[in-house]
Formats: sequence, C-alpha cells, structure tokens
Amino acid sequence: MESGGDATFAAIPGPVGAGDGLADIVAAGGLHNYQRKLHADYGPVVRFRLPGAEKAVSIADPVLLEATAKIDKRPEKLFEFLAPLQESDNLQTLSAEQHTPWRRVLLSVLAGRRSHEAHFGQFAALTCDMADRWAKSDGPIALQQHLSELSLRMICDYALGAGADSPEQAGRIVSAFEDVLTDQLARLYHADLPGTDAERGDRAQRALAFLRSTVDEVLAAHQDDARPGSASQDTAQQGGPRQSDGSDLIAALAAAGQPPARIRDTVLMTMLAAHHTTGVAISWTLYLLAQHPAVADRVADELTDILGDRPAPEYADLKCLPYLKMVLEESMRLYPPGPYGAREVSEDLRVGDYTIPAGATIFYPIWAVHLNPEYWPQPEVFRPERFTAAESAGRPRFAYIPFGLGPRSCEGVALAMVEAQLVLAVLLRRFRFELAPGHSVVPVERFVLWAADDIRMNLTPRVP
Ligand code: HEM
Repeated sequence: MESGGDATFAAIPGPVGAGDGLADIVAAGGLHNYQRKLHADYGPVVRFRLPGAEKAVSIADPVLLEATAKIDKRPEKLFEFLAPLQESDNLQTLSAEQHTPWRRVLLSVLAGRRSHEAHFGQFAALTCDMADRWAKSDGPIALQQHLSELSLRMICDYALGAGADSPEQAGRIVSAFEDVLTDQLARLYHADLPGTDAERGDRAQRALAFLRSTVDEVLAAHQDDARPGSASQDTAQQGGPRQSDGSDLIAALAAAGQPPARIRDTVLMTMLAAHHTTGVAISWTLYLLAQHPAVADRVADELTDILGDRPAPEYADLKCLPYLKMVLEESMRLYPPGPYGAREVSEDLRVGDYTIPAGATIFYPIWAVHLNPEYWPQPEVFRPERFTAAESAGRPRFAYIPFGLGPRSCEGVALAMVEAQLVLAVLLRRFRFELAPGHSVVPVERFVLWAADDIRMNLTPRVP
C-alpha cells in the first residue's frame, strides 16, 4: 500500500521509469546534463532517481532553496564512501548536536583573519616557487595537477604548521595523502589504476597511519608547549604570542576539548576538502581568462597598480583587487569546483507547491542553479561585471552557491578565497596563459569538477 510520503513524493513532477537512475544519468552524459534536462522538462522542483537515494528531489530555483536553508543533516548513504577515512565518526554526516560545536571551532580558525595573515607569507612563498618552476619548464603546464599539489601544500602548512615545515616532511605528507585519496577515489569511480585493490589498499592504510601519527606528533608538541614552565608558556606570560590564538587549527581543536581521534579526522577532512577544490577553482579561472585575453589584461593592470614591482601581494592588498575577485567569482559560477550538495529531510518540508516527504534526499544542483537563466541572463557568457555590488544587489542570495548553503555549507570559504586570490595574483602578474594547441578541455564530474585530460597551457612571461 502507498504511504502518505509516497503520495506526496509522486506528486512532485519528474520522469517515470524503473531502476536506480544510473542509466538515465549515463545516457544524458553525466549528472549535470541530466539535471539541466530534468529542470528544463519539469520545472524548478524535480523528483528523480539517484543511486544511493531512493527518493531524491532537485531544486534549481534560488528562492525555493530558502525553504531548505536550516536543514542540518546530510544523507548517510551518499557520503558513506568517506567513512573509511575517519576514526571517530564520518564528519560529513555528524548529527546536528555534534556538528554545531565542531563547526564553531572550525570557523573560529578558518574564517578568521588572524589565521589567514599567519600563513599568508608561506602561501606566497610556495606560490612563487611554483611560478619559478613554471618559468623554467619547456612544454605546456598541466594546471590542475600543479595547482592541486600547491593547494595541498598550502593546506598542509595551514593545518599542520611546524609538523610540515621541512620540504622533505611536506613531500612525504603530500604523497601519503595522494596514496589515500587515489585508493579512495579509485574505489568510488571504479577507475582502472595500476596494482591490485589489495596492494593499493595496503599502501593507503600505511599512508593513513603515517598521516595520523603526524597529527599526533603536532598535537603532542602543542601539549608540551601548553605545560606550565614550557618556553611558549613563559613567552605568553611575558605578553608574547600564545597557543590557540585563532591562527592554529590543531591548537583550537585541542583547546575546545575535541578528542585526539576527532582532531586527526578533522585534519584529514580539512585536507581533503581544501585540496582539489581550491586548485580546480584557480585552474578554471585561468582557463576562462585564456579565452578572454582582454579580461586577463585588465586583471594584470589592476595588479600592476596595486603591487608595483612586487611579485606577490601582501594580505592587506587583496581587498584592493576587486576586479580579480569578480573574475574568480564569475569563474566559480561557470565551473563550480564542488558541483553538488545534498541534505536529508527529517520531517515533511513544503517547497513551493510541493511537499517533500520526511526521509527524502534534497539535492543541490549547484551548477544548474548557477546557470538558471531567470537570474543569470545569457548564463553561459563569462562576464565578471555580474559581481559588481550594483548587479549583485537584486539577486536572491542562493542564486550563487559555490560553497553550498546553510549550517552544512563550506567552513573553508574565506580561506579558499584568500588562497585563490593570492595564487591568481602571482600567476596573472607574471604570465600570459594560452591553451596548448589541439588540447581540448572536457569537464568531468568527479568528487570535484575536473577536466578529463587536465587543462594544458603554454605560458609566456608578462613581466620581462
Ligand atoms: C574554492 C574552494 C572550495 C570550494 C568551491 C568548496 C566548496 C564546498 C562545498 C560545495 C561544500 C558542501 C557544502 C554543502 O553541502 O552545502 C563544502 C564543504 C566543506 N568544505 Fe569546502 N570548498 C572549498 C575549499 C575549502 C577549504 C579551503 C576548506 C578548508 C580549509 C574547506 C572545508 C570544507 C569542509 C570542512 C566542508 C564540510 C562542511 C560541513 O559538513 O560542515 N573547503 N565545500
């Protein structure tokens, strides 16, 4: 017999058919194409089938998304692929009671100017090193590969501080993390990689153990520092810097009483969340600028005005680079690095004319929302001026959601923006970018919005 939930779900427009929906997604050429087609055919609220979510509803209208803005639950099944990386709980699907204090600690560091300033010099040095290497290299540069590695190095420095300060140790951490991720993503996407599942699994387990012990060492060093009579305590008593001053993630988590396993999980999850997302955001921005050289020239002019002869900005310079920021924002509209989000409804939820039944999955089609022609005229056109204060003023807040929305939105948004603006400033001040001849860039939806065969560019110096 049909339950009330089945009836309200069936009343939502959507396709009819059997199976888990995978065949339809594949036939449409991927989830994004499928969703755009669904919304074009059935309107802004669509019921559809998705492997792992028996009752899924996609909402592409930013005004209707408001009804979902307080939901604090993610669907377990869609995120269970991350559970093996976590010791305490799956941080992506923590209950709201546990998630709220955890989010508060994360934001106290990630969103704060203090932590951005504390790490900015090292971020700039890592970026300039990469640019020096690029300047010496002959052939085209695979942007996504290099920029993901740079993001990972930056987040290692940020999350582990002194634990990753020698280049050798940072290199070991980066490759251990890659081993963990390669294995995890290979399982998720059934990728054809060298070695057997068991060999990759063993390597990933060893790498995971190494990463966890590295976090433990950093944590132990903090605890030593915090003991009465330690050098840093003496300094603090003399009015010098104190531990956990809002610039150090591990210190803040420890000071908030988070247990060691949760701290280890948080560092790993932060590295995971920060790694490819920031790198691909920068790469898609450079890709769009290569197709719009006049916009790239205007960014370079803004950089010359503010930086003069300096190769990299200071933290305080970022707020003087509004055009660069608009270019980044417009690029993340057209190529959102994290193209989807998901929530689970705990009680029946009214959205526009429909009722989404308790237990259903709400799907945020971030990419389709960013291309909704009602709020973004000529949505496929790259036009950074969409993000001037005047043009942004009339737009609903959820028309632009590259970092998701509500209590489960990205805690790294402020840090990601700082990193991306810094890296773009260094690179666009120094180089002109041109797509390698014959190279075609095809977006593929993985954990992030990737390019099938990377984005390969030739570089020429801007500053002789
Ligand atoms: C351009 C770069 C980035 C983009 C586009 C991005 C985007 C996103 C998106 C779409 C989500 C899911 C939000 C939702 O479900 O509503 C998310 C979650 C998250 N992101 Fe980011 N992210 C970026 C960089 C970062 C960085 C640098 C960090 C940390 C240093 C970070 C930490 C996180 C965390 C911890 C979550 C899980 C949120 C939660 O469950 O409370 N992200 N991000």
